[in-house]
Amino acid sequence: MDRFEAGEEINQLTEELNYHNYLYYQESRTKISDFEFDQKLKRLEELELQFPDFKREDSPTFRVGGTISKEFETVRHKYRMLSLSNTYSTEELEDFDGRIKKALGEESYEYFCELKFDGLAMSFLYENGILKRAVTRGDGTKGDDITANARTIRTLPLKINESNPPSEFEVRGEVFMPLEVFRALNEQKVAKGESPLANPRNTASGSMKMQDSSIVAARKLDCFLYSMISESSDISTHEQSIKTLEKYGFNVSMTYRKCKSINEVLSYIQEWEFKRLDLPLDTDGIVVKINSLEQQEKLGYTAKSPRWAIAYKYKTESATTRLTGVTYQVGRTGAVTPVAELDPVQLAGTTVKRASLHNANEIQRLDLHQHDIVHVEKGGEIIPKITGVERSRRQSNAKPIQYIERCPECDTVLIRVEGEAVHYCPNEANCPPQVSGRIEHFISRNAMNIETLGPRTIRGLLAKGIISDISDLYRLTFEELNGLVLEEQDPITGETKKRSIKEKTASNILNSIEESKKMPFSSLLFGLGIRYVGKTVAERLVDHFGSMNAIMDASYDELVDADEIGERIAQSIIKFFDEEKNRQLVTRLSTAGLSLERLSSAETAPEGDLLAGLTFVVSGVFSQFDRDEVKAKIKSYGGKVASSISGNTNYVLAGDKMGPSKLEKATQLGVSIISESDFINMINSRHA
Ligand code: IVH
Repeated sequence: MDRFEAGEEINQLTEELNYHNYLYYQESRTKISDFEFDQKLKRLEELELQFPDFKREDSPTFRVGGTISKEFETVRHKYRMLSLSNTYSTEELEDFDGRIKKALGEESYEYFCELKFDGLAMSFLYENGILKRAVTRGDGTKGDDITANARTIRTLPLKINESNPPSEFEVRGEVFMPLEVFRALNEQKVAKGESPLANPRNTASGSMKMQDSSIVAARKLDCFLYSMISESSDISTHEQSIKTLEKYGFNVSMTYRKCKSINEVLSYIQEWEFKRLDLPLDTDGIVVKINSLEQQEKLGYTAKSPRWAIAYKYKTESATTRLTGVTYQVGRTGAVTPVAELDPVQLAGTTVKRASLHNANEIQRLDLHQHDIVHVEKGGEIIPKITGVERSRRQSNAKPIQYIERCPECDTVLIRVEGEAVHYCPNEANCPPQVSGRIEHFISRNAMNIETLGPRTIRGLLAKGIISDISDLYRLTFEELNGLVLEEQDPITGETKKRSIKEKTASNILNSIEESKKMPFSSLLFGLGIRYVGKTVAERLVDHFGSMNAIMDASYDELVDADEIGERIAQSIIKFFDEEKNRQLVTRLSTAGLSLERLSSAETAPEGDLLAGLTFVVSGVFSQFDRDEVKAKIKSYGGKVASSISGNTNYVLAGDKMGPSKLEKATQLGVSIISESDFINMINSRHA
């Protein structure tokens, strides 16, 4: 066969096979058998191999892959690929509508709603109707050229089906792995004893970045297009661009709807909340766009996202992902907490990479194995938790997760107290996170409130040997701090960075350490970090015993006699003060000038029972007292102080900056809210 004939045949086969592909993927029709199709494709492949010059850019053989990309070229997007601002509530959506209305003034406007497809965003550049380049979103400005991989997506036209398209245009959309393909792929993996893949999105994104495009082809990815950018067309609405995409043979999800008002948008959202679960791909919300392109331009952009569009995300309280490992954190009390490390997954608006596993019992309860596919949920806590495991998707050779025996920080053998779920590292004195954790706790806002000293500085000072416990803070001098160079390890890269303490910071630190000497004794007691002695317990102890000496010398029976002090707390206090080093620490704190007694007796000694039978909740910041003094005052008049508002609360004593949730709760329950001056009047009038 001569070159001419080969060129002719290549052209003819390319056209013919593309036509059948179009019928199959765009119109769901077939005119030839699979066998015939494969025969022709094979013939084309052979010819292209022999006469590579004639291989066309829209050759259907690209669909089966075969290109190996060592590295993907980074290319700059002609138009930036922005993201969308997210909302989770209909109120925020109404606010969005309010902003649009305000910006557009008298003009009427329409919305265009689409589902938010959960895959990876891509940009496809077409020149003279031929797919020239496919680029990942990357950082929005630059992305990877993964054209060879994109060509394997069968529904993405390599050449568009239109006689006279704009000479150049860009199409954007979401590449995804259909759920059915994902499930089948995982079944195969599990059958082979391999670990299953976490979710379709990560799989799609990982697949698109593979170097061998024939593997990408086997992954059967798909795409939905949702935007077309062209400088040479007469398109004036988003709807028209969607219709044009359809006409050109692009895969457009038929789930879109034009809406005349925000109410129609809200109905669309409601309608798709559950219907979307029947779609062949994952979706995580809807995208609301202003339909008119002219109005889009008028509304403009923020640095990251358009002002003319917003994403409404359905709340996913639960997600599925894969366990990549278990790490262990050592707290200031030596308690060791296992943490599940996960393949990142979106959960109620945040990316979750870790979940708490609480303790060894929890690992056992879940029967957690390596690489398990797990369900994560976000409860009230900030840290999500694992609620279950997909045993059927477990690799046959996966080993159960074994709790560690030694401290990951100092290698000491861990202990577990009879009847308790938690493992402890007993090396209190030298285990680094315990030593720094104790000091970090001491300086925290609820304890001594030494705000200018952060955990990083503490760790730096410890590493330099400048401090070794909390009492050393009170011996720090300006000369020591000023210009001190601290080394810090970046928690992510592990790199060591240097940072020096500036003059101003040094004096701020020393001032706030000095100020902390005025903190009430209960804060100091809490700050010592005695196990089970929280803020409230510390206050009860101070109420009952009045001074550090009295607490240190109290017997077990005397301790349990105090309000709200149980056996466990009493034992822990006795154990703490049985240790000579802790008694010495207290002596050093006393020498440093810290208050080891209840506030002056005049303020807290019983002043009568004027407030007897009344329960107060104290919230916010006060001008005449600090919060502890206010509480002491209430108690000294026989009143009770509770920490949260309930039906039993008589008054909420509100200072400045009272939390909005407390205010709402008080209003809801009809509890009287009184100010600091109301309170002073109350005491004085009752005095009279
Ligand atoms: S329009 C300015 N429409 O959501 C961005 N995006 O945060 C305009 N996405 O990166 C994007 N479905 O990956 C648009 N129907 C849809 C979408 C959609 C999914 C993704 C896209 C984008 C991200 C925006």
